Amino acid sequence: MSKIFLVGMPGCGKSTVGKVLAQQLGHLFLDLDSLIEEQEELTVPQVFEQQGQTYFREAEARALRLAVASHKKIVLATGGGAPCFCDNMNFMVSSGLPVYLKLSPQELVQRLSPLDLQARPLLRDKTPAELLQYLTDTLHQRELFYDQAFCMVEVGSASVSAVSDK
Ligand code: S3P
Repeated sequence: MSKIFLVGMPGCGKSTVGKVLAQQLGHLFLDLDSLIEEQEELTVPQVFEQQGQTYFREAEARALRLAVASHKKIVLATGGGAPCFCDNMNFMVSSGLPVYLKLSPQELVQRLSPLDLQARPLLRDKTPAELLQYLTDTLHQRELFYDQAFCMVEVGSASVSAVSDK
């Protein structure tokens, strides 16, 4: 399969696993948030602050379609919300192989460092209890989309290479 899309919540390891998988397959690794930052010449938090989330979602959909049109063999780590907007999940299903990396909200909280939280506008400035509640509610809503992936990998405590080998 020439185009693999990694989907899942922030902190599930899409970029880390994606880099290893791309190397194993001889594909190009792309990170959708980085592509948006190049396209907009702003960081993700700046796009949210200056243009708002609706604009971010449109920019995200544009960057996704451009990446698919521009490269043959890619492993693309999407942002956690990407599958849920602008018909992106249908687009990924029809363009390649979406793979859902699954982690529980409790595991996500453990993995997200203060720096990770700061870099993610939707996760910032929350108490630990609010963060857990947000991740639980959001995962519940997003799984409708994530579950359309070709396959799901339970990330749990597995090592990066164990996940990419699956
Ligand atoms: C978002 C996740 C982020 C980034 C943006 C919005 C989300 O990507 O796209 O902050 O809606 O969950 P990661 O999943 O790589 O953190």
